[in-house]
Amino acid sequence: MQTYDISRSQALYARAQEVIPGGIFGHYGYSVREDGPKFFSRAEGAHFWDVDGNDYIDYMCAYGPMILGYRHPAIEAAVEAEQRHGNTVSLAAPIMVELAETLVETVAAADWALFGKNGGDATGLAVMVARAATGRAKIVKVDGGYHGVAPWMREGFPGAIPADLEQVLKVPWNDADAFEQLISDHAGEIACFISSPYHHPVFADNELPAPGYWARMEALCRANGIVLIVDDVRSGFRLHPAGSNVAYGFTPDLICFGKAIGNGHPLAALVGTDALKDAAKDVYFTGTQFFNAAPMAAAKATLDELGKMDAVGRMTDLGTKLSDGLVKLAGQRGYELIASGIPAMPYYRLANVSQRTHFAWIDECVKRGVYMLGYHNHFLSTAHTEADLQRTWEVADAAFEALGEPELAPAAAAG
Ligand SMILES: Cc1ncc(COP(=O)(O)O)c(C=O)c1O
Repeated sequence: MQTYDISRSQALYARAQEVIPGGIFGHYGYSVREDGPKFFSRAEGAHFWDVDGNDYIDYMCAYGPMILGYRHPAIEAAVEAEQRHGNTVSLAAPIMVELAETLVETVAAADWALFGKNGGDATGLAVMVARAATGRAKIVKVDGGYHGVAPWMREGFPGAIPADLEQVLKVPWNDADAFEQLISDHAGEIACFISSPYHHPVFADNELPAPGYWARMEALCRANGIVLIVDDVRSGFRLHPAGSNVAYGFTPDLICFGKAIGNGHPLAALVGTDALKDAAKDVYFTGTQFFNAAPMAAAKATLDELGKMDAVGRMTDLGTKLSDGLVKLAGQRGYELIASGIPAMPYYRLANVSQRTHFAWIDECVKRGVYMLGYHNHFLSTAHTEADLQRTWEVADAAFEALGEPELAPAAAAG
């Protein structure tokens, strides 16, 4: 391994701390590693380079937005062409209508679309539409589910007050009985149930829906006039091109998209069925930048590009191979690696050692040019290649070698 130099990242980080609270904030701040890269200099395909010139195969994909590869030529060309006409102007651009039409054609449950910038715009709008349509206040969410940073979503974080959370009820993932109980405890009060299509919390194995779970949740919503919202912000276009709900055989009333929809250009969308179109019209939802034309062109081009290939099939295949290879080589070194979630968004956990060792293994991978995170699911893109996988396995193996013999966690050692 060449010497791993991150001195420019470190110097920039020191400067950042003087003028930016936390130096790097939000989820990027969470993933700052003491001995890891902190700023990028450029990105191309499935790779990025940090400010010190280190090259990484990127399995975070900017936390999901990068789905076709960084600086994908067709997407960048669409953005540049749109920019030539203007971007933020005093009227909406025709591309907004074209994008909405494309979403209605592509997404099975969509009869209309509204646009924002971040996933949290779409989830926030979704609950407002549900409240407007039902005249009810309460939101039911899955315990540990993440839907953005609006106060009603921020339990336990400074800045949110108890009143923000008063209308939010929680059920465990995969527990339709608990939902049924909540419905009877709060008869006529629940506006919506909002959930990702499968459970992808941080710091925990990701969980797929149990057989029959979604059919029952859908039936309970229908029988009780509760709006069913799928938060597909993270998993959108990586599980099924027509909406992740299609993969699990159910139909929501509203679906939130963000992240991958614009291949990294800032766009989010709420799509819904005709039954909620009037409510969506009446909710006052806007933002100065919501009408930017270029990100809409990026999203239209992204959906078009994804539609030209079996993108989900490719990412599923790559993710399956990646995980199978990692699990196997971990086993050969005495480590038990668990891969959970969907193949295109694998969450990894070393099960027979401490969390500290798991994070140390991730750090060793990062130092060698494979960018991963210890506590969050990863993402595949259509730009990852077999050569990237091969290199990843070599790096992962070298990282295990660097750790040495596993020091088994007490439970694993006892078992
Ligand atoms: C499932 C889910 N919903 C909503 C959001 C919020 O999206 P954004 O960060 O774009 O506001 C995220 C972001 O990670 C997410 O994963």
